Amino acid sequence: MIIVETVSELAEALTMMRHPAKGVGLVPTMGALHEGHSSLISRASSENQIVVSSIFVNPTQFNDKNDLLNYPRTPDEDAMLLSDAGCDLLFSPSVKEIYPKDHLLDLDFGNLDKVMEGQFRPGHFRGVATVVSRFFEIIRPEKAYFGEKDFQQLAIIHEVSARLFPSVTIVGCETIREPDGLAMSSRNIHLSSDERLHAGIIYATLLWSAGAVQTGSVEEVKAEAVKRISAVAGFRVQYLEFVDSETLQPIVSWQKDRKQRACIAVVTSKTRLIDNVPL
Ligand code: PAJ
Repeated sequence: MIIVETVSELAEALTMMRHPAKGVGLVPTMGALHEGHSSLISRASSENQIVVSSIFVNPTQFNDKNDLLNYPRTPDEDAMLLSDAGCDLLFSPSVKEIYPKDHLLDLDFGNLDKVMEGQFRPGHFRGVATVVSRFFEIIRPEKAYFGEKDFQQLAIIHEVSARLFPSVTIVGCETIREPDGLAMSSRNIHLSSDERLHAGIIYATLLWSAGAVQTGSVEEVKAEAVKRISAVAGFRVQYLEFVDSETLQPIVSWQKDRKQRACIAVVTSKTRLIDNVPL
């Protein structure tokens, strides 16, 4: 695996690799990598001749300064995981390299970013859209891989790609979980041992709610699910929304002919966990 830090080194390496091989699959990350990330690399590796990954803790998508400061960084372990999973080229730029100018993309996402993460993390998706656009511009991948774990992010990126980069195919990949169902996340290390012990309840409750659509109204299922998770000491449900999978708008009654999703954010003593399941 080749590791580069600047846009010009990246361009040079890509030119070399693209000839004669074709087809670049991109997996953007913020590092502190785990099996969720490596599943994206493996998928990209099975579908593209060249796999490029980026590690960049993107300051513009953090609405909370402490979250940015405390974001875990494990560069040596990350490089090993990427190389083992089949990454060919790692781009690990500085902030200056990505943001030579203070320039944020100003796209209108309609109602997609008005709900859930958009509501609780103002400016977050503008930062995500900006950095992903920058990577698409300088890497020009044929395909780019993102996890369903960040379901709203995936929807926003589909929108960015459709409008600005129609030649890039966005591939959504399933959520990889710990044995107790907790979605793998770089932030899980901030859970206390007691919180970690109980964190499986988030996925278990989402699965329960997916089954309960037959028996209760949206409001009833939501109230019971929030009650179950809030029963764990230190867990606060920031939101639980049952949404239309395409528009991401909350539904007020179950729609048999539409795909729907349960999306949740839970705040713990030191971190914030998100997850979602199809209904
Ligand atoms: P990061 O949180 O590092 O995640 C990088 C990619 O891995 C995202 O597409 C995310 O959805 C995916 N991912 C994370 N945990 C996963 C899991 N348990 N199973 C499957 N996929 C998982 O998301 C970001 O970084 C940033 O916002 C980024 C897109 C890189 C822009 O800065």
